[in-house]
Amino acid sequence: MGHIWHALSSNRTILNRAENPQFTPKRIFPFVIKASLVTLSLLIVYEILKQILFPDKRIFELDMIIIVMAGAAASLGAYSALREVSSLSQRVISELNERLKAEGQRVRAEEALKGSEAKYHSIFNNVVEGVFQRTPEGRFLSINPSLARMYGFESPEEMMKTIIDIDQQLYVNQEDIQLFRKLMDEHGFVTGFEAQRSRKDKSIFWTSTNAYVVRDADNKIVYYEGTVEDITKRKEAEERLGRTLENLRKGMGATIQTLIQVVETRDPYTAGHQQRVTDLACAIAQEMGLPEDRVDVIRMAGAVHDLGKISTPAELLSKPGKLSAKEFELIKDHSQIGYDILKKSEFPYPVPDIVHQHHERFDGLGYPQGLQGEQILLEARIIAVADVVEAILSHRPYRPELGIEMALEEILKNKGKAFDPEVVDACLKLFREKGFKF
Ligand SMILES: [Fe+2]
Repeated sequence: MGHIWHALSSNRTILNRAENPQFTPKRIFPFVIKASLVTLSLLIVYEILKQILFPDKRIFELDMIIIVMAGAAASLGAYSALREVSSLSQRVISELNERLKAEGQRVRAEEALKGSEAKYHSIFNNVVEGVFQRTPEGRFLSINPSLARMYGFESPEEMMKTIIDIDQQLYVNQEDIQLFRKLMDEHGFVTGFEAQRSRKDKSIFWTSTNAYVVRDADNKIVYYEGTVEDITKRKEAEERLGRTLENLRKGMGATIQTLIQVVETRDPYTAGHQQRVTDLACAIAQEMGLPEDRVDVIRMAGAVHDLGKISTPAELLSKPGKLSAKEFELIKDHSQIGYDILKKSEFPYPVPDIVHQHHERFDGLGYPQGLQGEQILLEARIIAVADVVEAILSHRPYRPELGIEMALEEILKNKGKAFDPEVVDACLKLFREKGFKF
């Protein structure tokens, strides 16, 4: 029995090792066969010895041993089968768990999608902007109630039934639809695309469209999708404002022109002087890269910069000889007088101040306030240079015209002294490199 126990012990070791997941029933089976063969051999030896030593008892003991062995083998087989069944069950349960998990996720995703769709439909139906999907060929795929109302239709259904060619029926200008298609093809989207559209009753209104292209897997355009806003009120307000500004500009221009004529009537020798100064000052400002609105201010201020001469005695303005110190003081008053007139007239800032400062000098030696450097408005520093160049180039009652070289020499000599060096450089560049002429 000791041998049998040893053999069974060997099998128990095998069973213990089978607890390790690496020892599957398939791997255990050969060990079971080996153990059974060893046990069988021992039994044969034992039986031979029994026949020799105890011939009367062999049948009973042999039966018991066979029963024990058969039981052991059956147990091992059953264990192996149970392991297999257990492993299979675990796999099935694991797979079922995975499937249940996946199903749970799918159900949750479907619920989320349904919620999202419900929200989308709510927005689609209630949003103020028109929402559309349309084919490139010109048919609507879907439109919301706002879009239908915007075009004067009772319902999206009525509009979809009526509009079979969007480009022809809804666009007022064919150039707009061509530009819309071009932008969509080139960029895949448009934002704030403004165009005039036609309502059901043929009345015209303004729209702003945001849209993008939806393509399939082969990159072919499937449809356009986007929103439309009615901007008619905004466009009308812009047009009204534009007309008002234009009228104001015309009114201001006429006023300035009148002022120029008044000054030049009293001072025929300087006729055209303010306009020429303005032309040169604007060219210098542009050469220096000033924005267009500042150039406009210079244009206005340049045109009236000598307005104060309106109160200068006429005989002084046209006096052929040199002026006395007292007479010159009277002439110098024109900066202050011009400023006072414009300030009262509520000319837009900083036109009165530029006129006030157009005889100030960069080094502080000008008049009437003795400002220097950047205390003087840049626009005034520009007009100062243009004023001197134009004056030297022009005929005066007390001297003939002196020529451009002398004028440029004068501002170069005073660069960084009486005149802003950057303004002088721009002026020199205009005459010497860009061929500026009055
Ligand atoms: Fe002046």
